[in-house]
Amino acid sequence: MMKTFTVAVVGATGAVGQTMLSILQERRFPVASLHVLASERSAGEQIEYDGRKITVQDLAGFDPTGVDFALFSAGGLISKEYAPKFVAAGAIVIDNSSAFRMDADVPLVVSEVNPKALDSIPRGIVANPNCSTMQMLVALAPIHRAVGISRINVATYQSVSGAGRSALEELGRQTANILSFKDPDPKRFPVQIAFNLIPHIDDFLDNGYTKEEMKLVWETRKILGDESIQVNPTAVRVPVFYGHSEAVHVETRKKITAAEARSLLEKSPGVTVVDDRTAGGYPTPVTHASGTDAVYVGRIREDISCENGLNMWVVSDNIRKGAALNAVQIAELLANKR
Ligand code: A2P
Repeated sequence: MMKTFTVAVVGATGAVGQTMLSILQERRFPVASLHVLASERSAGEQIEYDGRKITVQDLAGFDPTGVDFALFSAGGLISKEYAPKFVAAGAIVIDNSSAFRMDADVPLVVSEVNPKALDSIPRGIVANPNCSTMQMLVALAPIHRAVGISRINVATYQSVSGAGRSALEELGRQTANILSFKDPDPKRFPVQIAFNLIPHIDDFLDNGYTKEEMKLVWETRKILGDESIQVNPTAVRVPVFYGHSEAVHVETRKKITAAEARSLLEKSPGVTVVDDRTAGGYPTPVTHASGTDAVYVGRIREDISCENGLNMWVVSDNIRKGAALNAVQIAELLANKR
């Protein structure tokens, strides 16, 4: 008989938590019983799962005894406080926040890239990478394996859903306000996001980069297991609801042509190449990445400004592969080992 598991989703009412629940259903994860947890604000609400209604419980009053897998996406402070309690009760925590990602004894896993890191989980916690790092590495790991990447220059175009449900609401509200000549009234973002671009995600650090940018540096090195890779990131919030895009420029140790990179990526798990060099023959967040699983790669071309340079445009649903889907894929890999 197939083994089944008790699963808890922490932050189940949020943008990522809700998608975790729908992906668990879509992929028929072997759920024996399910706990959906959020703050006391949503306790008592009903969520539909697999044709049943499940009541949202207050995380603060929940007893984690018996939980096999806990998928956390309620922010770093909640993870820091509650993940150790779930682990002490016997659960494996798959954490979508940045709370534990850089801890040496916590594996940081992209399911297609470094699943072997799941062989050792000393603290009972597995970290899910940052959404921008996630999609970039699904596309770059095959190239790194083939020819070695020495340097990555990346500019991100990140949708508002990465900042949660309140950020989705803010983009909608501001867009409507501006079209009816009302004040955009920024709350969730520091300045107006509708019809604008904001080169600021997460906090500023002493070196002038934002924390979101440095996540691309730190997490790339940890996941690829290569401290020598140089990464030069700029992270920008754009008025798109779902789907992050990235202009990625890499320098490789050995030359790879655009045609070779294209055929390598066509064979790579999790990647869909959309690269027709015609109008619409490239991926965009709306036409390809909203609500789908793949990491889409287009605009593959050789860099005319440097030796061994390759450019590409990488688009993916930040809530799915960038967060919820990868967390469920990690749970699947762990469930198969049990
Ligand atoms: P709630 O809906 O009850 O506030 P998002 O990233 O879309 O903003 O979602 C954040 C998720 O984290 C939501 O499910 C939210 O629940 C949950 N959350 C926020 N604060 C807490 C808390 N103190 N305890 C438990 N869950 C929380």
